[in-house]
Amino acid sequence: MLILSTPEDVARFRQTGKKLALVPTMGNLHAGHLSLVRLAKQHADEVLVSIFVNRLQFGPNEDFDRYPRTFERDCALLEAEGCTAVLHPEESTLYPQPQQYFVEPPEALSDTLCGAFRPGHFRGVCTVVSKLFNLSRPDVAVFGLKDFQQFLILREMTRQMNHPIEIIGGEIVREADGLAMSSRNQYLDPAQRAEATRLYRLLQTATARLKAGDTWADVQAATQAELQANGWVPQYLEWRRDDNLQPCEQLPDVASRLLIAAFSGNTRLIDNLSL
Ligand code: PAJ
Repeated sequence: MLILSTPEDVARFRQTGKKLALVPTMGNLHAGHLSLVRLAKQHADEVLVSIFVNRLQFGPNEDFDRYPRTFERDCALLEAEGCTAVLHPEESTLYPQPQQYFVEPPEALSDTLCGAFRPGHFRGVCTVVSKLFNLSRPDVAVFGLKDFQQFLILREMTRQMNHPIEIIGGEIVREADGLAMSSRNQYLDPAQRAEATRLYRLLQTATARLKAGDTWADVQAATQAELQANGWVPQYLEWRRDDNLQPCEQLPDVASRLLIAAFSGNTRLIDNLSL
């Protein structure tokens, strides 16, 4: 497996002209990330995984400094998965100074859900993913549906910015008890970790109630009350269309899903479930 760090390394790697799938990550890989590598392999000859903790997408009070960095372990996992190469750039390579150009996502997609609580987050995501696209010029890029809003914003960015790249979404990989895998799960203490499975159970109950005809107002209120009663600080619980993130009040004739974000102590967890 090749380790690429400079634009020259990437250019040399791309000379083979093989069909390439890019899987952008911030490292600290788990089975969710590895499922994306397997999905990427089904769509290309070679798989490039980028590992870069992107300062630009973290808010001033977020966990950039303590975000887990486990590069050696990540490389061993990727090698075992048959990944072709890892792109691990220095911050100064990805962000030549001064950095005065940014990719700004539209408010309709980025000022809601996670974006409402993390100003500038999706601008940081779009900017870094554009840079990764420009450096590696992949044919395909794979993102997880765990971050559904991110997936939608990046798919729309790719279309509107004319990146000739096919965007593929990978299903959410969960722990045995249903908790969506996340690098942030390791911040949870044992009691919080045991309680964390409630997020997925609540989503399952809520989607079942909506399909049975209960009103959204009742379902939303009951779900948020149960979270609060169990020590969570909810950020949002929303029911949105899959195609444009617009709110639903009753079952739409397009695909839709429930999306949730809540704090357990200092740890912010997100999850979503399709109806
Ligand atoms: P990161 O959180 O490392 O996630 C990398 C990719 O893995 C994302 O596409 C994310 O949706 C996916 N992923 C995470 N947990 C998953 C799970 N349990 N099941 C399936 N897929 C999962 O998302 C980012 O990094 C960054 O914002 C990035 C896109 C790399 C830009 O910096």
